[in-house]
Amino acid sequence: MQEITIRRPDDWHLHLRDGAMLKGVLPETARHFARAIIMPNLVPPVVTAADASAYRDRILAALPPGMRFEPLMTLYLTEGTDPADVAAAAASGLVKAVKLYPAGATTNSHGGVRDLTKVMAVLEKMAEIGLPLCTHGEVVDPEVDIFDREAVFIDTVLDPLRRRLPELRLVMEHITTEEGVAYAAAGGPNLAATITTHHLIINRNHILVGGIKPHYYCLPVAKREKHRLALRAAATSGRGCFFLGTDSAPHVDALKEHACGCAGCFTATNTMPLLAHVFEEEAALDRLEAFASLNGPAFYRLPANEARLRLVKRPEPQEFPAKIITEAGPVTVFNPGFPVQWQVDS
Ligand code: DOR
Ligand code: ZN
Repeated sequence: MQEITIRRPDDWHLHLRDGAMLKGVLPETARHFARAIIMPNLVPPVVTAADASAYRDRILAALPPGMRFEPLMTLYLTEGTDPADVAAAAASGLVKAVKLYPAGATTNSHGGVRDLTKVMAVLEKMAEIGLPLCTHGEVVDPEVDIFDREAVFIDTVLDPLRRRLPELRLVMEHITTEEGVAYAAAGGPNLAATITTHHLIINRNHILVGGIKPHYYCLPVAKREKHRLALRAAATSGRGCFFLGTDSAPHVDALKEHACGCAGCFTATNTMPLLAHVFEEEAALDRLEAFASLNGPAFYRLPANEARLRLVKRPEPQEFPAKIITEAGPVTVFNPGFPVQWQVDS
């Protein structure tokens, strides 16, 4: 039997939602992860420090007795965001990052940013105080092919922004392309990138060949195989600029299996066994801890967790629940499409 013990991981990009869904999915993350950066794309979004404080309270209230978990809150950047409110939220320790959604890029992003010049005062304040900006890095111009949205964002939005504000600390969220990998790798200490579990496992064929698979549809959409391989090389490189952000994004099955299905893969339940499988395949199990437990805290200037998580490889394939049953409805757990022998030893 093979096994590996790592510092308890954190998830640097997570959707927990609210109400019945929050209650249903929170234990799936808290079971394995100590902390997570909580995405603010609720309806209505988490825009102000007061919104973030109230949402944090709701998350902690939804945590089952005996479980420990620290939500790291973010603010949803709008063209009306007040730099002073952001600075106060950061100074109090409540907020760890601000999220940039280009308006219309993804789920509940219509309140996001249309014109970057309108948020420059906020970004300048963030650069001054060292508060990271998390970016959903896709352009929304209908002329741009959906598979090119990330590369075009890098060239037309991200690079000009970083030239204008080189001190701004920035996380390229859920990168999906070799262009994203190359840009993050060359970006120096103020730039990092998160990588999801599912983008290490699926390419666009998995979504579209042999019938459309709505549970593999997410944004940014999975790309060609060469991009998946670039993401695998980056995640398993051990380099400090790459770390785990699962983007685990629950939607009830009725909204995934729909004529206009929602974007999001729900990976909170089985991310750690899947990552052990992937890192073993890449002969990089010794770098799993850097990716899942060390590089993220280092970038966010937080201590790594003291608790440990043990993963064991069993002789037989391990079963995962196919669905999590929440009071909002069933949520399908990401199915990698291959047997997984790794399991978290609890
Ligand atoms: O697939 C996704 N789902 N990508 C996002 O950017 C948002 C997320 C969600 O909130 O469902
Ligand atoms: Zn997300």
